[in-house]
Amino acid sequence: MKNILVVGSAGQIGSELTLALRNIYGGDQVIAGVRKTKPSEKLVETGPCEVVDALDKEGLVSVVDKYNIDVIINMAAILSGTGEKNPMLAWDVNMNGLINILELARERKMKQVLVPSSIAVFGPTTPVDNTPQETILKPTTIYGVTKVAGELLGDYYVKKYGMDVRGLRYPGIISHETLPGGGTTDYAVAIYYEAIKNKKYTCFVNEDTRLPMMYMPDCLKATIDLMEADFDKLNYHCDYNVGAMDFTVAEMAESIKKHIPEFEISYEPDFRQDIADSWPNSVDDAPARKDWGWKPDYDLDAMTEDMLKAIEEKHKKGLI
Ligand code: SER
Repeated sequence: MKNILVVGSAGQIGSELTLALRNIYGGDQVIAGVRKTKPSEKLVETGPCEVVDALDKEGLVSVVDKYNIDVIINMAAILSGTGEKNPMLAWDVNMNGLINILELARERKMKQVLVPSSIAVFGPTTPVDNTPQETILKPTTIYGVTKVAGELLGDYYVKKYGMDVRGLRYPGIISHETLPGGGTTDYAVAIYYEAIKNKKYTCFVNEDTRLPMMYMPDCLKATIDLMEADFDKLNYHCDYNVGAMDFTVAEMAESIKKHIPEFEISYEPDFRQDIADSWPNSVDDAPARKDWGWKPDYDLDAMTEDMLKAIEEKHKKGLI
């Protein structure tokens, strides 16, 4: 039996991951840790919710002890766009929050810690196509800097203390349940909402921008499969590349036009263009496939169909 705490449960990935874990392990076994954001009804109804701030170690300790937490998942982070506007905040949340969690896990001898990473660990000097697992990590965003440091820190706790710390480098994650916030890949979610609401979208990166992306069901599968993988089979710990699909914004627009022919797209690149340009086009995830059987289910067109259907439903109900 595991008692899991998800820090950052109200976020884009945390909100759905908490529900997916509750389906597997039982509602009472998975504690939703939320900071200020009001948790969704679904989160409140399906299991315990607690106010948790990764920067407040005492608060974390009291929740961990109250529920005998032995697995902790750190989904709290300041993403690339917000990070460039406030580098100190990104450093504080992403590094001090992480070390609080790792230290607490060490002190309480927890069974497992999950510390997600990102394609933001790569930088302009990294090979852009099929970026290998082992490659140049010289990011030019503060978010990327904290993610590289986070990977190394997690690996350090594995080696130094014999702990079970795991993580994967998420590509841009696309979903329709909870909006992402402050990331560069957020355009790949906004485009679907705008396609349904206004039949047009002005994108903040140019049409040729190609990035690795993943649909939420695959993101949940990757996360849970990595958590459940046999520790002895892992050749890496906190830095697994995981690929699913990659496409340009123009290709996304074409995929949407198959369902909404009148959809129009225009481009007004802002500071996030440079960030996107510093990241890979696609990643090589051979070690994840070999070590823990990773394999994605969704491609661009399958995701588009699903996203548009779900967002149309929300629109009809007046939720967006
Ligand atoms: N989605 C993140 C961002 O754009 C990348 O991990 O910042």
